[in-house]
Amino acid sequence: MKKHTYRIYHIIISIIFVSMILGGCKKDTTDPINEGNKTIEDDDSIVETGEDTDEDKADTSKIKEYAMHMGTVEVEEELIYEDDFEGDSTLFTGRGAAKVEIVNKSKVGEKSLYVSGRTALWNGATVNLSEELKDSEKYIVNGWVYYEVGPDQIQFDCKVERNNNEYLSFASAMANKGEWTEITGSIIIPEDTNTASVYFETGFAGGELIDFYIDDVTIKHEIAKVDRGDIPSLKEFYKDLFSIGVAVTASEIPPDRQDLIKQQFNSLTPGNELKPDAVLDYAKCISDPKYDDNPAVNFSRVEPILEFAKEANIPVRGHTLVWHSQTPRWFFTEGYSQDANAPLVSKELMLKRMENYIRQVLEYTQTNYPGLIYAWDVVNEAINPGEGDENGLRVKDSLWYEVVGPEFIEKAFEYARKYADPDVKLFYNDYNTEETGKLLYIKRLVKGLQDKGLIDGIGLQSHLTMDNPSLVDVNSSLLEYGELGLELQITELDMGLKSNTEEDFLNQAKRYKRLFMFIKSIHESGAANITNVTFWGLSDDISWLNKPSEPNYPLLFDNYLLQKPAFWGVLLSPDIPLY
Ligand code: XIL
Repeated sequence: MKKHTYRIYHIIISIIFVSMILGGCKKDTTDPINEGNKTIEDDDSIVETGEDTDEDKADTSKIKEYAMHMGTVEVEEELIYEDDFEGDSTLFTGRGAAKVEIVNKSKVGEKSLYVSGRTALWNGATVNLSEELKDSEKYIVNGWVYYEVGPDQIQFDCKVERNNNEYLSFASAMANKGEWTEITGSIIIPEDTNTASVYFETGFAGGELIDFYIDDVTIKHEIAKVDRGDIPSLKEFYKDLFSIGVAVTASEIPPDRQDLIKQQFNSLTPGNELKPDAVLDYAKCISDPKYDDNPAVNFSRVEPILEFAKEANIPVRGHTLVWHSQTPRWFFTEGYSQDANAPLVSKELMLKRMENYIRQVLEYTQTNYPGLIYAWDVVNEAINPGEGDENGLRVKDSLWYEVVGPEFIEKAFEYARKYADPDVKLFYNDYNTEETGKLLYIKRLVKGLQDKGLIDGIGLQSHLTMDNPSLVDVNSSLLEYGELGLELQITELDMGLKSNTEEDFLNQAKRYKRLFMFIKSIHESGAANITNVTFWGLSDDISWLNKPSEPNYPLLFDNYLLQKPAFWGVLLSPDIPLY
């Protein structure tokens, strides 16, 4: 049977209608929730403290109560490509040196596509779908992979090569030798895609370039009609307390996401595009010795995000200038060498590179987007107690520490202060900030910077799970940090959840609700100056925690951008019980 499809067939192969109306309509009352005078016990439960609320303060306790409702989604899937390799020909061709041929071996049926003759990892099987894959649309790939010679396990990747020079992940799977393995995933095609090919390759297999087989490949276009109903806006709800932010990467701002972001958020953090590995321009750095102390930079990756933020009038948090991670080793080596053993530069040269890097990032953003970036994570994750440094600094995997020594932190803040516009706020940002050891070292570090007038705030990443940390610890750490009198921002909030049953979603909503009650009451008591809470992603599908092999559901919106119970938890809806 011949079965390959290479034109868009307007066949709707399935219609799934999901109706998730769980609640009634918005109540929209102005009754106070009145939970300002509570505190937390060890088990996260809340008890009355009897403390007076300050009548003179803005009465932010008079907030609206919203009833939970979940919206609807109608999903249509349209098959745009299919090949079971049972015919005599295929549109797949070899990528690079690889050859493809239809052979007699199969998961089901008789034949599959055999890929051999690879001379590099990226060699594999590819099909050009430039006509079929449309900008801003979502596609789902499904296929099977198999190999019989090589290491026991290999990662297979299906990717989209876009505009001949960009490689986007579509699906990944770990395959065991001799077992047909399913590979499935999804992608949203970015705007301005001129050419797009879908290809299969393998990950590193201990230096071996294995032959492999693929079979039963389908690519479907997913069209989701989402109706969220009338939902309140998080930024409106918290407008008298703090701004509410969301992190986005450049591929996460197609039009439907933009609308939701504009409605819900008044702060935006580029998820990856302002990190050194996104900004440093390797080719240019090595092109001329004049870049040796003045690294070449390129902002093409962050521009779409800054353009969107500017147009939508959403202030931006800059993340991040100095970090041990997502900063290439070659930034620290002599002649920017990529050689694994290349010697590291002197402290003096590295400080010049640091200063010029920070200067250029700030100058570029402040010149091209004046006033847009209101805060910077100047240094990220520099504390990791127990590695031998007397001040609890990260030692082992930090090239900043290795090359510059402990003073790299103060230097980074000094340079940031020197080049940042006067109203730009400078932050130290870290994770597990509620752990006692870490908290003490962070406080000490920040206090030192504060005494020198170099810092304005502390960023608490807050990647939570359902069990950790306890909200008691979150609460007391906010009070501890609050004592310094600096701004506090919750910069990367998510709540890892590995299952998506209704019960789990409700439990997550309850924990989000308790968390926001604590944050709100701490803010209202004046014990800490919390100025922003940012979620690390808009929806579960694109969360950094969510992997095809290990799904995770940490955010407020689901894969269809429908509000989850967690959303109503953050809005302190009375329909979400505390326990
Ligand atoms: C994460 C991004 O979300 C991922 O896309 C990337 O692969 C790794 O980094 N702490 C931080 C963020 O400060 O920059 C990290 O972001 C998450 C942990």
